[in-house]
Amino acid sequence: PQNVGILGIELVFPSLFVDQSELEKYDGVAEGKYVIGLGQSRMGFCTDREDINSLCLTVVSNLMKRYNIEPKNIGRLEVGTETIIDKSKSVKSVLMQLFEPYGACDLEGIDTTNACYGGTAALFNAINWVESSSYDGRLALVVCGDIAVYAKGSARPTGGAGAIALLVGPDAPLVLDRKVRSTYMKHAYDFYKPDLTSEFPIVDGKLSIQCYLSALDNCYKLYCEKYQRHHPENKVVGLNHFDALIFHTPYCKLVQKSLARISLNDFLLTTDPQQRKETYPSFHEKYDTIKLEDTYFDRDVEKIFMDYSKETFNQKTKPSLFLANQVGNMYTPSVYSGLVSLLVSVDGDVNKLLGRHVGVFSYGSGLASTMYSISITNDTEKLQALLDKLSYVKPLLEQRTKISPQEFTELMEIRVQNSHRTKYEPSGAIERLFPGTYYLKYVDEMHRRTYEKR
Ligand code: ACO
Repeated sequence: PQNVGILGIELVFPSLFVDQSELEKYDGVAEGKYVIGLGQSRMGFCTDREDINSLCLTVVSNLMKRYNIEPKNIGRLEVGTETIIDKSKSVKSVLMQLFEPYGACDLEGIDTTNACYGGTAALFNAINWVESSSYDGRLALVVCGDIAVYAKGSARPTGGAGAIALLVGPDAPLVLDRKVRSTYMKHAYDFYKPDLTSEFPIVDGKLSIQCYLSALDNCYKLYCEKYQRHHPENKVVGLNHFDALIFHTPYCKLVQKSLARISLNDFLLTTDPQQRKETYPSFHEKYDTIKLEDTYFDRDVEKIFMDYSKETFNQKTKPSLFLANQVGNMYTPSVYSGLVSLLVSVDGDVNKLLGRHVGVFSYGSGLASTMYSISITNDTEKLQALLDKLSYVKPLLEQRTKISPQEFTELMEIRVQNSHRTKYEPSGAIERLFPGTYYLKYVDEMHRRTYEKR
């Protein structure tokens, strides 16, 4: 099969949000710390009515309906998540409830976990399946979903929640470029969830940022090398090579710093002194001898390259931060919410996207990361159809309900107190959910969960 990639995308986000400037006041932090310092405006969250299973049930059922897909036409279904409510039973097995009634049980794929990276691993599995000898001509469905919640404190405003389903197959409008994926994985304790009774991670904030930026450095360098190897006609692969760059987004400010980081990499990859002097006339001397690993928290270097790349950021990356700014870190879906944001940013004007080349950086703590790229089709009709299917996203965001920080805190406390209770009927208001949302009805004495649809 040719042009294997993403044929369709469906997104769900919570119907409730808390305003970040109200949260600043409530938390007693300096005004602007969350909104300007982190770049976050609103944070979506779920009551105890929703869990990872319900989010994924909603997104899959919405996608099947919107794209009019026969359950038997899905040959592979997999889930990437780090929201674990059962140490053995997969979310995929729960999703089978949407397929069994149609006699559709021949579906490969299962759950994949490593922090925010599981969705990308699942997507690669699906792409590889379509390109492999096991492929049977049907479509693959990749689901990423998470509920990102933190204990009270500095990390709490970087939460969020959501799920994204990606329909994968040949002749796609969004094609994953072959042979240029670059991966960087290593052992790190930057963010992890060893306490299985709690939804909260243990997080070393500063280390997590350093790990994220060093993973980006490594992936970018290797991506450039691989691209050149396979496209020797391209002498230099730098920021100019991409029309857009999307990133896993723990919070929007980190992504602006990441784009600056790539421009710093470009500076260091420009080894010819004359060329460096011409391209970076104002600061090439000052930073001639800097090393990437010494600069993760170097304010001067950060500022110079933030300023230098500001226009590029506004053009190539800012449009992809819309949902992250409005919903927060969704964990596994985060980078794909960047893709959705980019697609909806053109308000249906396909000409702004046709034939464009999009760089993608996916990161999951612990750590696993990959940079890859997507080529957007030149086929107007194909792209238009994809964009039309996403036209619900912006209006639905406006239909959310704002919750006060006080009530948000109380609702979070209910989650904390009850996350593993049995004989439990959740208390979260069903009427506040969007129509069509699956919700948790009951957890029985054997921890079996039942769901209903609003
Ligand atoms: N107005 C404007 N900006 C402000 C203000 C203000 N009044 N006050 C602070 N700021 C800025 C700070 O200068 C800082 O920005 P800078 O780094 O560009 O200088 C920013 O706001 C955040 O302030 P910090 O003091 O650095 O924040 P803190 O250390 O309290 O927490 C952190 C930030 C570490 C990101 C925390 O939210 C966290 O741990 N989050 C979860 C971990 C995370 O997301 N890691 C990223 C990769 S891993 C992953 O995806 C989970």
